[in-house]
Amino acid sequence: AHPHFSQNENFALVQNGIVENYQELRGKLKTKGYSFHTETDTEVIVRLIEENLKQTHNLKEAITKSFNELKGRNAIVVINKENKTIYAARNGSPLMLGIGDNDFILASDPSPLLKHTKQIIFLDDHELVTLGDNYQIHNLTTNQQIQKEVQTLTWDVEQAQKGNYEHFMLKEIMEQKHTLAQAIIQDPELIKNIAKEINLAFGVYAVGCGTAGKVCLAGTYAFSEIAKKHINFAFGSEFPNFHHFIQSRSLLLVVSQSGETADTLEAMQTVQEKNGKVVSLVNVMGSTIMRKSDYSLLINAGPEIAVASTKATTSQLALTILLAYACAGRYEDGLALLKQTAQEVTLMLNNQLQENLKKLAQQIKDRNDLYIIGRGANYPMALEAAIKIQEVSYIHAEGFAGGELKHGPIALIEQGTPCLALIANDETKQDMLSNTIEIKSRGAYIIGVSPENNEVFDYWIKVPDVGIA
Ligand code: F6R
Repeated sequence: AHPHFSQNENFALVQNGIVENYQELRGKLKTKGYSFHTETDTEVIVRLIEENLKQTHNLKEAITKSFNELKGRNAIVVINKENKTIYAARNGSPLMLGIGDNDFILASDPSPLLKHTKQIIFLDDHELVTLGDNYQIHNLTTNQQIQKEVQTLTWDVEQAQKGNYEHFMLKEIMEQKHTLAQAIIQDPELIKNIAKEINLAFGVYAVGCGTAGKVCLAGTYAFSEIAKKHINFAFGSEFPNFHHFIQSRSLLLVVSQSGETADTLEAMQTVQEKNGKVVSLVNVMGSTIMRKSDYSLLINAGPEIAVASTKATTSQLALTILLAYACAGRYEDGLALLKQTAQEVTLMLNNQLQENLKKLAQQIKDRNDLYIIGRGANYPMALEAAIKIQEVSYIHAEGFAGGELKHGPIALIEQGTPCLALIANDETKQDMLSNTIEIKSRGAYIIGVSPENNEVFDYWIKVPDVGIA
């Protein structure tokens, strides 16, 4: 649906975001005689700029005025046909400027820029960039010109290409052969300092969205078991509801691949407004979350291009576990365990596994529903597995805590319904097996994901067991 053109086609606009007050603005513009061809909020921005242009007679000023009138989280790019100037503004949605040898490129993520340049400026909220022969950045509120640091991406162009893989997600899954080992290459002193902050904090909250949120939930189990420490969990969008408990000694542990997720940034703002501290685990160097954190650790996973997060997730988990060990004063033990895990994962990701999984997928692909169960730290992993299946296969998938299934959802199990049982070799094993037998007796097709086979499984996916240090 983009771009949208002005009525005289003198400028065109693309938008990333949502204009929350678009109905109100649209109503006002209609009374001024504007007609609309679409139901989109994007068209409202274009008409608003046209209206403001009548007063300012200057496109840049009209864009500034209009953008400041928008509520919500938005980034826009406007191109002026007459002088070929491009304007881009940000408030809440990510926007970055790639600086090439002979060109400038705007994007919402660094990955697509890599092919062209590694020199990037991350724009902040309320900033407007003007691109002609050169670039200029202004603050949208004060109109002051701003000098911003140009960051150099450390990623390689090859990392952002598919190579021989059929698609990026497969490539990124296979990259876990290296990414786990890379995630734990960190400055030990920094990790230990962060652990000190976590231990001193009064109320630690692990916050992320979607998959990163599941990592945070898994983190609560890791901290409980390894560091005997209670940390709270909330999804980014839910966290502001807990602002009543936030104070200057609160600490937010933020997890985000992109480092730009708006709900996560809002959670940070909630804590920072009360002078609390923020520690973040991010993948994109120089991203907003990284820049706004008191401490930040890079997960070193390289560009994650597939929509579904895979390698970044396991790297985030590895670092969360390492932090838990550091909080327990056992950083070296954690490091050794994770190194061993990385080796085991490398062995696991072989061609045979891929072939087996393809066959299994053929068997279950026409089912409408799929359920995943897990206990302990495998409960968030069951939720996470469900997200992956939903967004990649479009099959209705849901994750449950093993013990919760009997409290209602078991009614959904039919003859042949595929159910994944994530069974670790730990104290949850026996209970998980009981839960698995319960759903099998309802006719479920059991796919056991476990270090050991079991007669209750109809299909077994073997995973390594590194235990706990
Ligand atoms: C799912 C997925 C999303 C992201 C979420 C947060 O596979 O990728 O759920 O995890 O949008 O994104 P980041 O980690 O960039 O903050």
